[in-house]
Amino acid sequence: MNILAPSILSADFTILGQQIKETEAAGAQYLHFDVMDGIFVPSISFGLPVLKTIRKASNQVYDVHLMIEEPIRYIEQFAESGADIITFHVEAASDSREVIDKIRSCGKKVGLAIKPKTPVEEIEMYLEHIDMLLVMTVEPGFGGQKYMDDCTEKVRYARELITKACLNVDVEIDGGVTRDNIQVSIEAGANVIVAGSAVFNGDISDNVKTLLDKMN
Ligand code: DX5
Ligand code: ZN
Repeated sequence: MNILAPSILSADFTILGQQIKETEAAGAQYLHFDVMDGIFVPSISFGLPVLKTIRKASNQVYDVHLMIEEPIRYIEQFAESGADIITFHVEAASDSREVIDKIRSCGKKVGLAIKPKTPVEEIEMYLEHIDMLLVMTVEPGFGGQKYMDDCTEKVRYARELITKACLNVDVEIDGGVTRDNIQVSIEAGANVIVAGSAVFNGDISDNVKTLLDKMN
């Protein structure tokens, strides 16, 4: 069963709790929470107090995507605020192994993310230590961008490595997913799909159901 992770970056924040519940009722298993610091990426989004509050809105798996420099500084706080999976960028950490161990010591699942231009080879040595690899399919920073087609091959290669090594690692993709292209990355080996605008623009329930239908 493939997993849909709606990214609330594209939600209507005046009725955020209600919209989260709607994604859950329609079958979305995860909730994707994008944290941006204005340094690793140009934009600033939301952080700890927001996570703490919305955690109560649903029983989904809270999938926290940290787009922040030196994520080691905030792992404990995000763990305490309700994250189930904590994903950080290899490009943002001076010692990725240390961050992986920190997330584990907090009892959370470990995700490692790579930007579109970062080759899979750069994180190959970490695969046996993580639960999820996030392959960005747009430059991180904003919702509503176009899916970068050349990232599909990275998904395929990552899945190949994981299968060959008999590892139990999820492959998540994030950015530019639509009803029309969602099958491309699934076919390449992704099993967790983030979708922001494709979920929150228009009828949320209908969007979630359609995406899930196409994924499974
Ligand atoms: C971008 C974020 C994404 C974003 C995806 O940096 O990591 O999670 O919300 O938005 P869409 O699905 O609209 O591309
Ligand atoms: Zn994200």
